[in-house]
Amino acid sequence: MRIDVLTLFPDMFASPLSLSIVKRAQHRGLVQIALSNIRDFAANSYKKVDDTPYGGGPGMVMMPRPVLECLENVQKQESLNGRVILLTPQGRKFDQKLAKELAAEQRIILIAGHYEGFDERIRIVANAEEVSIGDYVLSGGELAAMVIIDAVVRLLPGSLGDEDSAANDSFSDGLLEYPQYTRPEEFNGLKVPDVLLSGNHAQIDKWRKQQAIEKTKANRPDLLDDNKKSENKI
Ligand code: ADE
Repeated sequence: MRIDVLTLFPDMFASPLSLSIVKRAQHRGLVQIALSNIRDFAANSYKKVDDTPYGGGPGMVMMPRPVLECLENVQKQESLNGRVILLTPQGRKFDQKLAKELAAEQRIILIAGHYEGFDERIRIVANAEEVSIGDYVLSGGELAAMVIIDAVVRLLPGSLGDEDSAANDSFSDGLLEYPQYTRPEEFNGLKVPDVLLSGNHAQIDKWRKQQAIEKTKANRPDLLDDNKKSENKI
């Protein structure tokens, strides 16, 4: 898989891309991540990439030409144009389902904006979809791009040490993950539940499923409603 990121701040990506699972996935050749600086495509001598909004209002808007020329430049590096994603708070909400969808693509191109947002013609000309990582406003799309890269790359086969670990993740079956325990058996007077020490795998699975339902009920009841809705549709 190839992931391109178009950004005004490529330096922000150095540390997250060079650590842990994302680093290993690149070393294993599972993903190639290419950063492009939108400012390199600013036509004027001030390297200006933003301007005031037509119709007035606060802040600045990303100009179409530098972004679209930067996009054209990365797209022509491969035969496949890729799925183009604009990171904005107005987008489709990113979740595990979308992470799986993107992990199945051969190429995705993430465009991180700054200022008040993108000139709308960028979305139209690039035939881009908009994605948001949550209902809050970040100062730029870079952190959102990193969140997406991390969630997608760990789903690529061969990315995690243990192939099962992604299958058991929270959300993979519509529920939050069950509580986990490791050594020591007793800590601050709190004991690991007996069932986990029993060696009875059927009982352990049953306990985990029940705990996952309890945790989801307590922390994210909306997920159980979503599950009910999708079950009724079938
Ligand atoms: N840019 C600014 N806020 C954002 C958000 N919530 N998600 C994605 N990109 C953003």
